[in-house]
Amino acid sequence: MARIPKETIDQIIHLADIVEVVGDFVSLKKKGHNMWACCPFHHEKSPSFSVAPAKGLYKCFGCGKAGGVVQFIMDIEGSSYVEALKYLAKKYGVEIQEEEKTPEQQLAQNEKDSQFIVSNWAKDHYHRLLLESEEGQSIGLSYLRQRGLNQSTIQTFELGYSLDAWDDLLKSAQKEGFQAKYLEKTGLTIIREDEQGKDSGRRYDRFRGRVMFPIHNVSGRVIGFGARTLKANDKTAKYLNSPESDIYHKSDVLYGLYQARQAIRSEEVCYLVEGYLDVLSLYQGGIKNVVASSGTSLTESQIRLIGRYSENVTVLYDGDAAGIRASLRGIDMLLEGGLNVRVVLFPDGDDPDSYIRKVGDQRFKEHLESASQDFISFKTAVVAKEAAQDPVKKAEAIRDVLQSIAKVPDPIKRQVFLQQTSGAFGIDEQVLITEYNKLVKTATQKAPTSGGGAGAGSHNGGNSTWSNGQPAAAPRVPAPSMSPEEEAEMAMYGAMPENFATMGGGTITAPADDDMEPVPDLVQVCEREIVRLLVLYAAQPLTEEIAVAQYIFGQLEETPLRTPLYADLMHLCRQEMEQGRWPEVRNLIQHSRADIRAVVSDLATEKYDLSPNWSTHQIYVPRELDQLQQACDNAILRLNKVNVQRELAIQLDALRHPMDELTMLETLGNIKLLKEMDNRLGDLLGTVIPRGAM
Ligand code: CTP
Ligand code: MN
Repeated sequence: MARIPKETIDQIIHLADIVEVVGDFVSLKKKGHNMWACCPFHHEKSPSFSVAPAKGLYKCFGCGKAGGVVQFIMDIEGSSYVEALKYLAKKYGVEIQEEEKTPEQQLAQNEKDSQFIVSNWAKDHYHRLLLESEEGQSIGLSYLRQRGLNQSTIQTFELGYSLDAWDDLLKSAQKEGFQAKYLEKTGLTIIREDEQGKDSGRRYDRFRGRVMFPIHNVSGRVIGFGARTLKANDKTAKYLNSPESDIYHKSDVLYGLYQARQAIRSEEVCYLVEGYLDVLSLYQGGIKNVVASSGTSLTESQIRLIGRYSENVTVLYDGDAAGIRASLRGIDMLLEGGLNVRVVLFPDGDDPDSYIRKVGDQRFKEHLESASQDFISFKTAVVAKEAAQDPVKKAEAIRDVLQSIAKVPDPIKRQVFLQQTSGAFGIDEQVLITEYNKLVKTATQKAPTSGGGAGAGSHNGGNSTWSNGQPAAAPRVPAPSMSPEEEAEMAMYGAMPENFATMGGGTITAPADDDMEPVPDLVQVCEREIVRLLVLYAAQPLTEEIAVAQYIFGQLEETPLRTPLYADLMHLCRQEMEQGRWPEVRNLIQHSRADIRAVVSDLATEKYDLSPNWSTHQIYVPRELDQLQQACDNAILRLNKVNVQRELAIQLDALRHPMDELTMLETLGNIKLLKEMDNRLGDLLGTVIPRGAM
């Protein structure tokens, strides 16, 4: 059935780069040999979707979806093999020689393909009418011009015009050989009912005398239309939209995303507006990272869609109070989705479209900068103002804001918001925290015990995995379990000449975790020193450019901590920095996890154990602050040494088992290398002042 020649298929697959193809749909980050992202096929908050460029494959370790470039497009679009190939051919400029005239019956491999094809054809038809027909030019085009849109924007968004006639589209489609049922399924035509309300068998066009806004999915296929009337006194709605169909699910779509996606990624923020015209005007004004929810309230899948490209959303609002109040809930959902939300208001009476036309591109951009505020602060200000004189209302308002805060998955951000809120309402922070904890507790009690499913706050029935008002737990790093090799290695540590025991710290109680086995003490000790320096001195400069935290993260990029609690703590610190803040004891100590709070407070109160030599000789007692560089180097080198020795033990142990010659040579090579590294690290350690060993 496929009409695409084998050589063409080979050529497409040869040219298609998996990273590029997948990268159009998710934001991939390099880690090791592979690229990682949150999976586009199932909902998750930490990446388990990987792309292996060398192998040309993708695989999700969460949901199991896997395959090559063509399969990826089939999966993400729900299209057939042939349609996926055509998508790739278009992306890579491969011409497909169609062997026969190709009406949709020949090409379509499945029901959805037919609907894609007829929608695409309709888009071309409307576009042609806009540019070429007399009615299209004099009514449609002149309207768009009058609204300030130029040729390039009209092309980019493939705008069109539907003639003011009952069956122009229907007739043209029949002439092309399209089946009536697909016009109907995509909602392009409507069946006329007779007096009894029965199907009269007669059909007419849904869209007549309107400017047509094709709605694209993320891969650029037309799946539906928005259509604006041009008659001022029309009794029908200003906008008509395609009905739901097999290919168009309103709640899964953001208008403009196809055109905006690259810019959203590169600008690292997505602007969210309400209307089609808002998208077009901003895009034309050079703000390309803009999408519209198209008048409906936001849905989870729309939010997830944004999250695939950026975790920052800025919502652009018309300034009227009613509108703002109504959208607060939708914004709470953005927070729940783990996005960072900011808000920009426009002066009363203006929407983004009218405002950019009024003040021009440059001033509009300045407005985006200067008027943008963090959502929680914004909401706090709105409700605080409403409740200013009324204590009952005020209590309600506070709870309202606390509820929003509870939706923020990141504990540190929650902490900061609580501080802000305390300021805005003039309420003692401790009181607010108590109130917050009460609220979260009741929410937790109400919610089902496990599965994070359909709690009071979940939005689409049973299949939601979103948090239900209950703050998400801090990210966990999987606990390593001990292998025989590791046990062997532990024995080896016991015999190590290094005087590690004098280091501060000592054994910590690892977080009570189901089946976790203890990590060797020595590793814990070294890792504890790392997080201690990080937590206590993150912001302290080592050089003019580098602070302690940056230094540590840079040096340990390839060395994940193995003690789960310390790994979690380190991860929290990194998250803080990604938010543009230094990790601080003050904030970390407020964390929702008791074990994190405990370790942070231990680290913060632990006395710097002064070298006994120094104190007894009373030469001079340097404060730790004065020798941070040494302390950092020391800690990093020690951790590296421990890890090298661990690997060494594994390799040595391997030698005890039978192996072929090649493996043996390889193992011996590794051992030699590791020993050299170990010695070198030892030398380096000798050149920095060893803490506690003088
Ligand atoms: N909308 C809709 N159906 C309607 C009204 C509005 O689907 N009957 C959607 C459209 O996506 C529209 C958005 O809601 O773009 C915002 O509506 P509105 O502010 O009324 O329209 P504008 O986009 O401002 O359009 P215009 O500037 O052309 O009036
Ligand atoms: Mn408008």
